[in-house]
Amino acid sequence: MRRGPYADDPVVVVGSGAAGLSLALRLAPHRPVLLVTKGFLGDGSTRYAQGGLAAAVGPDDSVAAHVLDTLGAGAGLVDPEAAREVCGGGPARVADLVALGVDFDRDPDGRLALAREGAHSRARVVHAGGDATGRHIAAALALAVAGDPRIAVRAGEIVLEVLVRDGRAAGVRTRDAGGHEHVRPAGAVVLATGGMGHLFARTTNPVGATADGVALAARAGAALADLEMTQFHPTALAVAASPLPLVSEAVRGAGAVLRDAAGHAFMAGEHPQADLGPRDVVARAIWRRARADGRDVALDLTHLDPGAVHARFPSISAACREHGVDLARDPVPVTPAAHYAMGGVLTDLAGRTTLPGLWAIGECASTGLHGANRLASNSLLEAVVMGRVTAADLADPPLVWPEGPLAPARPLVLGDAPGAEVRAAVQRIMWEDCGVERDADGLARAARALDRLPAPAEPEAAGLVEVARMTVAAAARRTESRGAHFRADHPAHDPAQAHRTGWCGGAPFEIAPAPRGAAAHRPAPPAAVRKEHE
Ligand code: FAD
Ligand code: SIN
Repeated sequence: MRRGPYADDPVVVVGSGAAGLSLALRLAPHRPVLLVTKGFLGDGSTRYAQGGLAAAVGPDDSVAAHVLDTLGAGAGLVDPEAAREVCGGGPARVADLVALGVDFDRDPDGRLALAREGAHSRARVVHAGGDATGRHIAAALALAVAGDPRIAVRAGEIVLEVLVRDGRAAGVRTRDAGGHEHVRPAGAVVLATGGMGHLFARTTNPVGATADGVALAARAGAALADLEMTQFHPTALAVAASPLPLVSEAVRGAGAVLRDAAGHAFMAGEHPQADLGPRDVVARAIWRRARADGRDVALDLTHLDPGAVHARFPSISAACREHGVDLARDPVPVTPAAHYAMGGVLTDLAGRTTLPGLWAIGECASTGLHGANRLASNSLLEAVVMGRVTAADLADPPLVWPEGPLAPARPLVLGDAPGAEVRAAVQRIMWEDCGVERDADGLARAARALDRLPAPAEPEAAGLVEVARMTVAAAARRTESRGAHFRADHPAHDPAQAHRTGWCGGAPFEIAPAPRGAAAHRPAPPAAVRKEHE
């Protein structure tokens, strides 16, 4: 064992969305930080976020009400302690962002303007630039990080492996834009790599959302959780593009109505909250209606003031125009699309994974906040809250580190199949057989098809294959329907399966909720699962 000095080895933060940037800013006064990100500083899903960030800041609101809505949306799988921790941090983190220069939209009286989104009991979503919230947040955070001399940034560098020394994450292997590989030792590694929408043919996620963090953690030996829980957003613009432009739920919050091919406003018959019902309910209703009609469902805004529509939703309006659609005057064709991963790397409420030395935050992590279905606009919130909480945990780590060689626990294995072809095959298989509706036959077909895929030459495609296989296994194991996971062959809830499921080395285990008041409570798979894994 080697005693410090810890200052020699920076905390390596992987990813520069809201989660990675928030954490880097908070940690920099305490530890050297090296932020590695595969695109430019501030890329990722964050900058595409439209609707906004949910926080109990309204005069009629409370953290308790926000927690209740989060629990309700999550269909019995939300960890109540996670909901209390994250929702409780909302008002203060909104204040931090305002102090950092995020210019949230305001009412004429100067108060924060609040939007209402699906499954929220009241208006509590703060937004900026109308529908450009993510761009404003990412820009403010990225500017602050770029201006902080204590944070070293390596942009255009992809992390290929988390390196382990004596059972502890202690570095990363990366490849820079010039194709040169580097080993970067680390006092701790934090995965903030975002989502996995590109597992599916239809997604709202930017092209880099390829499940890298989940694949990296799995290869390093950390446990995963809830991989079957993919949220399909009901209303992506149904055009030939990848990613598909999102038509925010806030558009329905402002009064847009879904109509089928006959012009019928069908959501009224599907859920008491009609067009603003829970996201999974609306997504399935659209999916079924479109299949029955043989054409896309459309959003109708023609009863709203066109000037107000374009002013409130400038980015969506522009995206529609690019595809020949006038948001205010035309039927706007929409389709469900993979949007958010509730599952990911299993962590506690301080971002600790099951592997010492490895933390995970933001969309790539699974804290239990989202359960089986994320409440709209709770993910930007989680990213900024966990960025701060995890920075506090990392500011005070043990100073004893093991000696010995740095090596991957399980190396990344590449083949020679073209990455783009393998990606496209994964996306087709997953969309057809592990998408909005699933059943045992389709999942078995998906598993066989994924097993037949050749090893790709590209690391992101290799990660997609690996995570797709684990996702299909998780979806096959959950023989019930709950939240975003709908099994056509098991359409009801099964009370016996009302728990989150962890995975370690391919073996499943039941996840117990966090003890009340315990933020740092490193999750651990049961001994039997650990043994099977070893
Ligand atoms: P991201 O912002 O996705 O950042 C991930 C980072 O990791 C990127 O910098 C990426 O380049 C980097 N990275 C990934 N892999 C590697 C690797 N191997 N090596 C190096 N770097 C890597 N949520 C809301 O709360 N409200 C909304 O209104 C909202 N709207 C959305 C609209 C759209 C179109 C989309 C796609 C998502 C939306 N979401 C919304 C979800 C939300 O944006 C994301 O969940 C959240 O921004 C995730 O933040 P993050 O920091 O975890 O990841
Ligand atoms: C949206 O604006 O509809 C997306 C919000 C979210 O994903 O939370």
